[in-house]
Amino acid sequence: MPELIVALDLPDREKAVSMARQLRDALNWCKVGLELFTLGGPRLLERLKEQGFRVFLDLKFYDIPHTVARAVTAAGVLGADMLTLHCQGGKRMCQAALEARNTAVDACSAPLLFGVTALTSFGPGEMPGVSAPPGVYAQDLAASAADWGLDGVVCSGREVRDIKAASPGLACLCPGIRPAGADSGDQRRTMTPAEAVEAGADYLVVGRPIIEAPSPAEAACAILEEIRAAAAAPAAE
Ligand code: C5P
Repeated sequence: MPELIVALDLPDREKAVSMARQLRDALNWCKVGLELFTLGGPRLLERLKEQGFRVFLDLKFYDIPHTVARAVTAAGVLGADMLTLHCQGGKRMCQAALEARNTAVDACSAPLLFGVTALTSFGPGEMPGVSAPPGVYAQDLAASAADWGLDGVVCSGREVRDIKAASPGLACLCPGIRPAGADSGDQRRTMTPAEAVEAGADYLVVGRPIIEAPSPAEAACAILEEIRAAAAAPAAE
């Protein structure tokens, strides 16, 4: 079954730890992004790991190959189970990241590497210097990510079918997930949890619809139920 990952996008380390605790019974994965890592640093990752979470460190690395390789090694040492880097960093940057991961001191320090394609907040015509629609651009980058050997890509659920058709072995991790009726906020290429699962997504990342809900645990359970039902339904022809 696809995994649900909660994005702990909260402005306070203790709030994040307490939110994680509320969700621990329902979820195995949590995501630490730019805001929370800036606030909480390595110690926060340690605390989430102590709670038994697998941690997705979403810092979207984009730099010269040497710097990204060193950052991947550092994230592995901190215990990140998965991390992101921009596909736009190109072949040499992504392969330097892979080499750093593949030569980690032990398996626990070897995170899965996911390439960011086109952010789910981009709508048509919004990507600087890119005339192709974001979905087409995402597919092109995903094909490169597969060639370079990344474990997966970050994309909208709307792109998963085409990406999987071209690169069946590539995992798809989808943000921009919104239960029916939920506010899309700054996200543009959204899908419901069921739609993303039906398209073949492997991981669904959900932030605000869970962490801003009156009961985050209930919101997470409702999304999990939707994922379960969609995963159990026979595939549409
Ligand atoms: O609150 P919401 O569900 O929109 O949160 C989505 C999360 O996924 C955010 O933490 C955001 O940084 C992250 N993300 C994204 N689009 C990407 C990559 C990561 O929205 N392409």
